[in-house]
Amino acid sequence: MPRPYTFMIFIIQQGSCRQNGFLNLNFILETDSMVQNTPHLSSDLVTTSRFLRACRCETTDKTPIWLMRQAGRYMPEYRQLREKYSMLEVIQTPDLAFEVTMQPINAFDLDAAIIFSDILPLLAGMGLDLDFIRGEGPTIYNPVRSAADIDRLRVTPPEESLWFTLEAIKMVRAELDPRGIPLIGFSGAPYTLAAYAIEGGSSRSYVNAKGLMMSDPTAWHTLMEKLSESVGHYLLAQAKAGAQALQLFDSWVGSLAAEDYRQYVLPYSRRAIEIASEAGVPIIHFGTGTNGLLELIREAGGDVIGVDWSIDLSTAWERIGHDRAVQGNLDPVALFAPWESLKTRAQFILDQAAGQPGHIFNLGHGILPETPVDNVKRLVDFVHDYTSA
Ligand code: CP3
Repeated sequence: MPRPYTFMIFIIQQGSCRQNGFLNLNFILETDSMVQNTPHLSSDLVTTSRFLRACRCETTDKTPIWLMRQAGRYMPEYRQLREKYSMLEVIQTPDLAFEVTMQPINAFDLDAAIIFSDILPLLAGMGLDLDFIRGEGPTIYNPVRSAADIDRLRVTPPEESLWFTLEAIKMVRAELDPRGIPLIGFSGAPYTLAAYAIEGGSSRSYVNAKGLMMSDPTAWHTLMEKLSESVGHYLLAQAKAGAQALQLFDSWVGSLAAEDYRQYVLPYSRRAIEIASEAGVPIIHFGTGTNGLLELIREAGGDVIGVDWSIDLSTAWERIGHDRAVQGNLDPVALFAPWESLKTRAQFILDQAAGQPGHIFNLGHGILPETPVDNVKRLVDFVHDYTSA
C-alpha cells in the first residue's frame, strides 16, 4: 500500500505538470521500498533522475543540466576519433556511437546522455543520398524537388534503416543504468527534415523548401505526411530500444511565419509526437527562433518545450504555461566568454526559473565546435552548486 505522505506529494505536484498525476499514480502503485532502495534499477530512474523528474515538473534536489550536441568537436577525444572514422562511420557503427555518446558523460557531471547520431540518417533511410563533408557540413546529392521525388521516398521501418542507432541505444543503456543516468533519443522534426531534404543542405532563406510549401501544397502535405510517420516511428523505436526521453529537433522552424507553421507544419509535428507518445516517455519539443511560435509549438505537443535565448526564460514559460516543463536557454556563445560573464548569464537564467519544478538547464541551441572545455565543466558544476537545496 502507498504510504500516506506519498499521496500528499502526489496531490501537491499534480498542479504543476500535465501528465503528472497519471504518471505518479502509476509509479506509486507499481513500486515498493525494495525498488526505491536500489538506485541502479532502471525502473527507479523515473523517480531518482533529476532530469526525468524535471521533465514531469517534479521537484529536484538541483537543477538538471545537459547540453545539446554535448558530444562533438569541442572535445579532444571526439576529434581524435574522427581522425580515424568518418561521421557516417561513427553513426553507423554501434561501438563507435556508444563511445562518443559516453565521452561527455565521462568528462562532465551531466544529468542526461543523448545518443550520438544526427538528424539526417533518417533521410538516408528514406532513399536520399547523404554525406557529411568535412568543412562543409551535410549534403544530400539527390534533393527532393518535385512530386515525383516525393513519391519515391520510402517510409521504412526504423529497425531496418536505422538499426545501428537502436543497437547503440541498447549498449549505452547497459552502461548508464548502473550510473543512474538516463538516455535521450532524438529525431529531426518533419519541417527541419523537409527543409534539408529539399534544399540538399543548410540554407539561409529556404527558397526551395518554402517555395514548394507555397507553390504546391499538395506535394508538401504528402512529403510532411511521410516525414511525420517516419519521425514518429523512429522516436517510438528509440524508446522501445531503451531511450528514457525523446527530443524532437525543429531547428529551422524559426524561418516560418506563424500562419504557415499553423497550416503546413503543426499537424505533422503533432502527428509525430502522437505516435511517439505511445512509449510513455517524456518528449522534448525544441526549436530555435521560436519567439513568434511558442504557443503554437506548445499546441503541437511535448512535455518539455525547448527555448532559445532570444526571449527571457520567465517570459517564455509564462507563454508556454507552467503545466509544461521548459528547457534552455543559454546563448551557446556565452561559453566563450570569461567565467564571470558566463556565470552571470547562467545565474540570470536560473534566477528566472526561480527554482520552480520543471526547468532543465541547457543551451538555446547546440554547443559550438570551438567551445572551451573548461567553461563547459564550470557551467555544469555551477548549475548544480547554485541550485542545490
Ligand atoms: O547532441 C548530441 O550530442 C547528439 C548528436 C547530434 C549531432 N547532430 C551530431 C553532429 C545531434 C542531436 C544533432 C542534431 C542536428 N544535426 C541538428 C539539430 C540541432 C541543431 O544543432 O540545430 C541539425 C540541424 C543537424 C544537421 C547537421 N549535422 C549540421 C547542419 C551539421 C554541420 C554543422 C556542424 O555543426 O558541423 C551536422 C554535423 C554534425 N552533427 C556534427 C556532429 C557532432 C559535426 C560532425 C563532425 O564534423 O564531426
